[in-house]
Amino acid sequence: MNKIVVAIDGPAGAGKSTIARIIANRLQILYIDTGAMYRAVTLELLNKNISIEDIDKIEEILKHIKIDIMDDKVFLNNKDVTHEIRQQVINRTVSSVSAIPQVRKKLVDLQREFARNRSVVMDGRDIGTNVLKDADVKVFLTASADERSVRRYKEILLKGLDANLGEIKNEILARDELDSTRALNPLKKAHDAAVVDTTGKDIEMVVEEILKIIKPKL
Ligand code: C5P
Repeated sequence: MNKIVVAIDGPAGAGKSTIARIIANRLQILYIDTGAMYRAVTLELLNKNISIEDIDKIEEILKHIKIDIMDDKVFLNNKDVTHEIRQQVINRTVSSVSAIPQVRKKLVDLQREFARNRSVVMDGRDIGTNVLKDADVKVFLTASADERSVRRYKEILLKGLDANLGEIKNEILARDELDSTRALNPLKKAHDAAVVDTTGKDIEMVVEEILKIIKPKL
């Protein structure tokens, strides 16, 4: 198989990580969840009580932070934070952290390093427009806001936690608004990305649709 680079972008809750992980698995290549990396930085700032206005301290943190992605796990300074980074407090804060230019620069460099000279499926907000502009396949994955909210709601209930559908929808819409209006590398469809709308489709249908786009490039 030739080297293949697949970029998947889209709004919160569109199913990017679920779909991207399955595709990487089927192709037997690396999967990188860049949202998890922004979440890990957010967790570190919260743990250390650092305000998003305190750029000096943030720069100091970024100099020493260690983020690793291994299989399905995310490590922050060698500690497994896979579950911690999915908390509501992170959902509410991550878009403000990801708008900080110093944070983006650090993580984009790291993402490009992870993808250097290898086949990869990478998902996020600016992969096709910025991180991996030369990706062989670019997909913009989307779904209606209602469907994205219901999916998140069910996910939380399945974990045995409490959830409020209205609050989830508001949080998702607020995150989309911040992510798509920030100055630096906002969430945007790349001009050469294929739009895949997952509204009303199950996971396997979406995976098949994307694999059809990828197959001719293999
Ligand atoms: O994909 P996920 O919802 O986990 O991403 C969390 C947040 O990280 C997004 O809402 C966005 O603020 C930020 N992000 C980003 N650029 C990426 C991936 C995620 O700004 N490439």
